[in-house]
Amino acid sequence: MRLWDKGGNVDEAMLRFTARDDWALDRALLPHDLRASRAHVRGLARAGVMESADAEALDAALAELEIEAREGRFAPSAEDEDGHTAIESALVARLGDVGKRVHLGRSRNDQVLVALRLYEKEALTDVAELALLAARSLAELAQRTMLVPMPGFTHLQRAVPSSLGLWAGSFADGLADAARAALDARGLCDRSPLGAAAGFGVNLPLDRGGVASDLGFADVAWNPLASQTSRGLLEAQVLSAAWLAAAVVRRFAWDLSLFATTEFGFATLAPELTTGSSIMPNKRNPDVVELLRASCSVVQGALMEVMSIVALPSGYHRDLQLTKAPLMRGLDEVRSALALMPKVVAGTTFDEARLAASVDVGCFATDRAVDLARSGVAFRDAYRTIAADLAGGVGLDAGASLRARVSPGAPGDPRLAELLRRLDALAAEASASPG
Ligand code: ARG
Repeated sequence: MRLWDKGGNVDEAMLRFTARDDWALDRALLPHDLRASRAHVRGLARAGVMESADAEALDAALAELEIEAREGRFAPSAEDEDGHTAIESALVARLGDVGKRVHLGRSRNDQVLVALRLYEKEALTDVAELALLAARSLAELAQRTMLVPMPGFTHLQRAVPSSLGLWAGSFADGLADAARAALDARGLCDRSPLGAAAGFGVNLPLDRGGVASDLGFADVAWNPLASQTSRGLLEAQVLSAAWLAAAVVRRFAWDLSLFATTEFGFATLAPELTTGSSIMPNKRNPDVVELLRASCSVVQGALMEVMSIVALPSGYHRDLQLTKAPLMRGLDEVRSALALMPKVVAGTTFDEARLAASVDVGCFATDRAVDLARSGVAFRDAYRTIAADLAGGVGLDAGASLRARVSPGAPGDPRLAELLRRLDALAAEASASPG
């Protein structure tokens, strides 16, 4: 029985087209929907608009459903239009008429909003924590290799002496930014929309603040229409944070796929992280690196999908249902990519001799021009003098050049302690998860 059944026929093809796979997607929202439903009925009792005995019966039945959902014995099925219908049907099956009381003062519109925000807060905590674990593995690599020479590339051309550690540390720093973005997006999701009902409030003195704190929200999104119209916009912010993490992973993967070529010869992936070819017996392929690179495209596609759906006027529109699949797809993608990163970092060996040997004589030109300028020559004149004598750098030592790069953050003064402190602070913030 559909929640909105008023008697009369409904076209089956229309129903299939509108319900789609919402029942399946709602499986991921179910624990959050149940938790929010419990808070809702408790709030109705506090507001004096539901008998305590009814609220207690509903709360207890919802608690049972939570256990059954966890054990896989309760889940929306294709016969349910969505997860909200599955919950109400299960309550009616268990409690009869009392089950029919659960929907007082709420709409499926705010029901899905609150479940999504709870789901997003949890997923963003995962994204932040996984980004930080990946960052830590790269920071450790940076600590070990800060003075291992390699060329710094610009335009993919050898440019100046740099280090493997500087390269690795750049990803740790980028992933820390991504964790920051995930926690900021989590903050945006941390206001309770429950009580917005269909988007305009209801003629009941709902205890919205109590329900919000019961659910661990930091605040209430008071304007009900703002709550409603945040749907899709918040999802775009959530996916933007996911995109930032995926974009850092993509750059790492791109570099690694170049470094692992015979032509570069900088890096080798552990055999257990490579795949083979069905025809070429000689091949060990870095498919994992390529798919880490492609993860960003999946997340970006999801973000674009959400952004194009939310071009809507005020109020609820069924279009919004279509933001659910890309949200979940993007978050699942970034989580699985990030989860693999520490393994790929640990499973990559670097050919330090080859890296150092790639620092060619031209790479020393900038250092030499700077040295000459320090002795009093104007930099532009020093620049032209060195340009006319690039071979003069023959025999310079890349290791010594790295130790001399003492501008703060560079290999001679890398400030890794600052990076590690930043990672620790972000990890503490992530685990102090609201709700
Ligand atoms: N499955 C719907 C969604 O995700 C639930 C809300 C339905 N509301 C409605 N007015 N038809 O948006």
